[in-house]
Amino acid sequence: MVISMISPNRQHTHGVKTVVVPAAGMGTRFLPATKTVPKELLPVVDTPGIELIAEEAAQLGATRLAVITAPNKQEVLAHFGEFPLLVETLTERGKDEQVAKVKRAGELIQPIAVEQERPLGLGHAVGLAESVLDEDEDAFAVMLPDDLVLPMGAVEEMAKVRAELGGTVLCAIEVPREETYNYGVFEIEEVSGLDRDDVKRVRGMVEKPDPEDAPSNYVATGRYLLDRAIFDALRRIKPGKGGELQLTDAIALLIEEGHPVHVLVHHGGRHDLGNPGGYIKACVDFGLRDPKYGPSLRGAIEEILVNFDAEKAARAAE
Ligand code: G1P
Repeated sequence: MVISMISPNRQHTHGVKTVVVPAAGMGTRFLPATKTVPKELLPVVDTPGIELIAEEAAQLGATRLAVITAPNKQEVLAHFGEFPLLVETLTERGKDEQVAKVKRAGELIQPIAVEQERPLGLGHAVGLAESVLDEDEDAFAVMLPDDLVLPMGAVEEMAKVRAELGGTVLCAIEVPREETYNYGVFEIEEVSGLDRDDVKRVRGMVEKPDPEDAPSNYVATGRYLLDRAIFDALRRIKPGKGGELQLTDAIALLIEEGHPVHVLVHHGGRHDLGNPGGYIKACVDFGLRDPKYGPSLRGAIEEILVNFDAEKAARAAE
């Protein structure tokens, strides 16, 4: 496999060598597309979500991407391959820009496939990554490919928090209380003596509670900086919400046992690529910012809106 092209002195700058990417889900919210195309390969403009995650991991200074896949989802790893015939053909035709696009994923980071034979939950998927870690890795990151946390760099900030406070650091966003049932929800308290107010101590965590039972409206978004102690906790939890082994329950167990867990509250943007509604928004957002497609997309969106509103008004007048 191709080894990361980032310069050695930038590697592991934040103490994170491995980023774990759970990508074994069936993508049921994206059917029929996901009958043959894993949702992690659906493009945002022209780049699959998995490559955006690889870019974020490489930027963090990580050198290994442990991709947890289902047995029938080998295409996700294949995206990091070398494609010699394609490169040769494009090179002969002088298409250098496209050659760079073909090579980019494999040059960003070294992917490692970890197979999850059965869909037993996020906690189970993360637990499988233990076999990939070196003995000296005290912590590792998890990036959920459904979540784009923007601007990139949340885990760098979380690593600074871990350097100061130790333990495990998670990424929180605030959502309306009625939406908390979609997430792992934090019970938090202020940390005294810190010169920043975007870091809170986590006193408990519960997976997808009913909104009336949610301990707060701070919820987990898909970036985790986990202490290695999580593996031991993952071995001791029982199936939880939805009958699955939940990462949230292992984190809750660590907290109960006195392990320090903090959140960094993210105030930037976020896209949920895991469902068509969120995915379309992400495509529009990234598309508008794209130097090649942005300007005409803006005009096209305005035209679509004018036509859409006119049709609606005409229908209302009938
Ligand atoms: C997972 C986690 C949940 C977290 C969410 C963030 O849920 O279990 O705690 O808040 O990701 O996107 P999922 O969205 O996979 O159901």
